[in-house]
Amino acid sequence: MEGLVQGKVALITGAGSGVGRAACLLFSEHGAKVIAADINGDNAEETAAMVRDAGGECVAVTCNVADPASVDAAVAKAVDTFGRLDAIYNNAGITVSPVPGKGLRSLVECEPDEMKRVEDVNINGVIYGSQAAIRQFEKQASEGKGGGSIVSTASVSGLTGYGGVIYGTTKGAVVQLTRALAIEVADKGIRVNAVCPAGMLTHYAGMDPESEHRDMILQSMGKAHPLGRAIDPRDTAAAAMFLCSDLASNITGVNLPVDGGFTAGRKVGG
Ligand SMILES: NC(=O)c1ccc[n+]([C@@H]2O[C@H](COP(=O)([O-])OP(=O)(O)OC[C@H]3O[C@@H](n4cnc5c(N)ncnc54)[C@H](O)[C@@H]3O)[C@@H](O)[C@H]2O)c1
Repeated sequence: MEGLVQGKVALITGAGSGVGRAACLLFSEHGAKVIAADINGDNAEETAAMVRDAGGECVAVTCNVADPASVDAAVAKAVDTFGRLDAIYNNAGITVSPVPGKGLRSLVECEPDEMKRVEDVNINGVIYGSQAAIRQFEKQASEGKGGGSIVSTASVSGLTGYGGVIYGTTKGAVVQLTRALAIEVADKGIRVNAVCPAGMLTHYAGMDPESEHRDMILQSMGKAHPLGRAIDPRDTAAAAMFLCSDLASNITGVNLPVDGGFTAGRKVGG
């Protein structure tokens, strides 16, 4: 049976952990050739080895999404290795460090340097990834094969007031970029969408997916979602893969919640 993204070449950022690693594995299971890009080259290499061990095609690249030259080099690596680019999944993202023993840092507790770093990775990282991908898609169109898909990881924090001011502001920017860019490049046949996950147990925000309290953490995350389960990184990867696939060929400008119903609301009295 053909996979959902059979033969497509997909560049996935933040590929060394969490959602990005799950996406590399899932896209490959569904037939994609994958470039696993992460600022942590060793972790990207580990992901690529996992994909290859499972029988897939994957190369790793060290890439800082906040540096446009580094992103251009990752796209060039995709083209050198696999001949073209069909999709970029702008997934890398970070948040402001929590206050030890307290949790979420309030706006007035945030330091300018850290705020700038989060903005640079979460907003500019998506912008640079999208620019590099569009340039490559346009080149391919001039050679006779147009189209291309851009998917980014936003968050429910970009759709609601949940999750902290600076982080939510960056993810709100990704939500808006998704709509505006979708309109801008629609006539080139390029589609632009985002996934908006709720809470997942990854290395995000200093969490530890291997924690001895893993089950308890997952249970408490799940309580925030009407469906009652924490979001699995693979749930988010699956939504991103669908949006990259030809099944989604008439879908663009969408910010798809992957949130167990979190943004849908609450039962009266619930
Ligand atoms: N975990 C959650 O609860 C949650 C919820 C909503 C959205 N998200 C978003 O999901 C995405 C994936 O996060 P995750 O949960 O898998 O976290 P994670 O920390 O496990 O993985 C993030 C990966 O991004 C990489 N990275 C960080 N900065 C980078 C940079 N400048 N360039 C390239 N790679 C970089 C890290 O090295 C890491 O491998 C992020 O955009 C995050 O904001 C996470």
